[in-house]
Amino acid sequence: MPQKTKADFLKGVQTHLSAPNLPIAYVIVTEEKEFVGTFSLRQCDMESHSHLSPWVGSILVHPSKRNQGVGSILVKSAELAAFEMGFSQLYLFTPNKAAWYGKLGWETVEKALFNKIPVTVMVKRLSQP
Ligand SMILES: CC(C)(COP(=O)(O)OP(=O)(O)OC[C@H]1O[C@@H](n2cnc3c(N)ncnc32)[C@H](O)[C@@H]1OP(=O)(O)O)[C@@H](O)C(=O)NCCC(=O)NCCS
Repeated sequence: MPQKTKADFLKGVQTHLSAPNLPIAYVIVTEEKEFVGTFSLRQCDMESHSHLSPWVGSILVHPSKRNQGVGSILVKSAELAAFEMGFSQLYLFTPNKAAWYGKLGWETVEKALFNKIPVTVMVKRLSQP
C-alpha cells in the first residue's frame, strides 16, 4: 500500500466489489501481506436497532499505521462499498469516536446503550463519490 495513493485505493475497492450479500469483511494488507486494517458491512449490528440497516463495524487500523489517514480511507471505502451495493445510507455505533466520524461527515442519530455501554448511533447518507 505505501506506493498507492488514496485514489488508487478507492478505485481498487470499487473494482473488486463483487459480493453484494452481507455480511462481508474487508481486510487490507500490504504487498508483503502485513495487516493494515479491516472493516465489515453487516445487515444489523445492534439488535435494539434492527430497523436500521446496513451497518459498518469492526473498523480497525493496526496501531503502527494509525494517524496516517488509513482509518478515514476505510470509512470512505465502507461508504463506497455500501453505495455500490445500492444502499442510500449506512449506520454505525461508537462508544468514543463520534467526533472522529463527525469529521468524516457522519451525523448522530441518537445516544443508546449497547451491552449497557453508552454509544452514539450515527448515519451517513450515501451519494455518488
Ligand atoms: C479509530 C481508528 C480506526 C482511526 O484510524 P486512523 O488510521 O488513525 O485514522 P485517521 O488517520 O484517518 O484519522 C486520525 C485522525 O483523527 C483524529 N482522531 C482520532 N481519534 C479522534 C476522536 N475520538 N475524535 C476526533 N478526532 C480523532 C486523530 O488525531 C487524527 O487527526 P489528524 O488526521 O488531524 O492527525 C484507529 O484509531 C483504531 O483502529 N482504533 C481502535 C479501534 C477503534 O476504536 N475502532 C473504531 C470503533 S467505533
